[in-house]
Amino acid sequence: MPKPPELVWLDNLTPKSTRFDDTYYTRESGIEESRYVFLDGNSLPERWQAGAEPVVGELGFGTGLNFLITWQAALSARNVTSGTAPHLTFISVEKYPLDRDSLAKALSPWQDISPLASELIASWQPDTEGWRQHDFQSATLHLFIGEASDALATMPMAVDAWFLDGFNPKTNPDLWSLELMQAVHRASSPKATLASYTAAGWVRRNLDAAGFAIAKRKGFGHKRDMITGHKR
Ligand SMILES: C[S@@+](CC[C@H](N)C(=O)[O-])C[C@H]1O[C@@H](n2cnc3c(N)ncnc32)[C@H](O)[C@@H]1O
Repeated sequence: MPKPPELVWLDNLTPKSTRFDDTYYTRESGIEESRYVFLDGNSLPERWQAGAEPVVGELGFGTGLNFLITWQAALSARNVTSGTAPHLTFISVEKYPLDRDSLAKALSPWQDISPLASELIASWQPDTEGWRQHDFQSATLHLFIGEASDALATMPMAVDAWFLDGFNPKTNPDLWSLELMQAVHRASSPKATLASYTAAGWVRRNLDAAGFAIAKRKGFGHKRDMITGHKR
């Protein structure tokens, strides 16, 4: 059985991990920040328009908010040549899965994505460790319940665009270590990109040492920096 998350709810609305002393997403701007950092940071809208179907990889799944906003964006994206919508393949990992009620509560503020959230919640069954495939309309989610390094060693396919979304590197250093970033690099396709909300110096150095070219860009809202990168 996987270990449960240790949750408290800020204002009875926003989930926070007491294990990692951090929230799953930013309270004021969760959805817009995720779109800005992860979708735009990996140029997913442009890649879809050009007809590509990049495989997205994420560390860690948490509430599924990133998956849902990516799925929603893919549903409305169009290949400019053929006019067709892309199929989304999304690979993620979660060591401390939320139970179904907590998942539903965490996703309840986001009206925009509620039909897609309902599908995820209905298929949610994180009671055994290992890989599980969820097939939705125009999206396939490969979710590994367990340790990120075990997922990265057994990936179903190479990743073209990474969402590096561990908790704060100070409290969740394992998810940003050099060894893990090297495993991310090995699990990447030749032109893979990445994006993260954190621009912490040692995270950038680990990514650089693992073989990614990293650039800082303006963070979301009042935040100073975030990072993007590509495989060298
Ligand atoms: C900031 S939250 C992710 C938020 C998520 N992307 C979302 O859309 O809600 C970080 C996640 O990484 C998970 N995590 C932390 N350490 C991990 C590890 N070593 N292996 C796998 N998952 C881990 C945490 O349990 C948490 O759910």
